[in-house]
Amino acid sequence: MKVTVVGAGAVGATCADNIARKELANELVLLDIKEGFAEGKAQDMMQTAALLGFDTKISGCTNDYSKTANSDVVVITSGLPRKPGMTREELIGTNAGIVKGVCENILKFSPNAIIIVISNPMDTMTYLALQSTGLPKHRIIGMGGTLDSARFKYQLSTALDCSPADLNAIVVGGHGDTTMIPLIKHATWNSIPVTQFLDTAAQEKIVNDTMVGGATLTKLLGTSAWYAPGAAGAALVESILRDEKKLFTCCVSLNGEYGQKDICLGVPVVIGKNGWEKIVAMDLSADEQAAFNKSADAVRSMNDVLKTL
Ligand code: 2OP
Repeated sequence: MKVTVVGAGAVGATCADNIARKELANELVLLDIKEGFAEGKAQDMMQTAALLGFDTKISGCTNDYSKTANSDVVVITSGLPRKPGMTREELIGTNAGIVKGVCENILKFSPNAIIIVISNPMDTMTYLALQSTGLPKHRIIGMGGTLDSARFKYQLSTALDCSPADLNAIVVGGHGDTTMIPLIKHATWNSIPVTQFLDTAAQEKIVNDTMVGGATLTKLLGTSAWYAPGAAGAALVESILRDEKKLFTCCVSLNGEYGQKDICLGVPVVIGKNGWEKIVAMDLSADEQAAFNKSADAVRSMNDVLKTL
């Protein structure tokens, strides 16, 4: 199996590091536009192989897409990250051109690849990738909800003083500070509703802290986060390459599901060897559905910006 990660910045490199440590692929290519950068990261990672005991062969290249040929999965992380105080949406003008170009180049050499989009604003970049490539919709997956759900579990595990691995909790909707919807009423601690242990104020705090999870880190770090975004990307790669059929929240093309169409938005999906294999329906309350519709409206107006570029 071969995986390419486009963009060797912090998110791309962390994603690649996770892929290598888990030996998900025999070949892993890092590509970046900055001269020598991906080569350097790849060599540094390869020098951990003897210590960590993995056999994945990692190589780096400067904008040479021929090196990515015949990739099974391509993770796109390229584009500007956000700076403190910036929204993900403010990146649209710059990142749209970058993501479109990357998709074109990737498909020249890997026409059958499944594409995972991490670049922000992720919902709009996923929609752009789908529209501009014309690929079958199952092969374009936006990573956002996978990350946001992990952040939701972190907040819940801190409040409940429990293991995040024992939690079932998902975030649907957009991957924006105001568009994501942590579904706390559906969250369980090994099947027990978490709402049994948390009063309304505690629930609201968890939901709010989850929604600004990325912004909080951007403020602390001076740039956007990378460990959890990279691990989220790698978890999707793993479910594809091992055909695990795990249930993740991902940004995918909706055609009437959850009451929306002509949009890519975060919903629960099964991830396997064909990409996202099916959308899983869940019963949303009237309030949750209203929040989902509002999120869709916000993402749709961001998608409209693409027409003006
Ligand atoms: C985040 O939320 C990178 O959008 C990503 O940290």
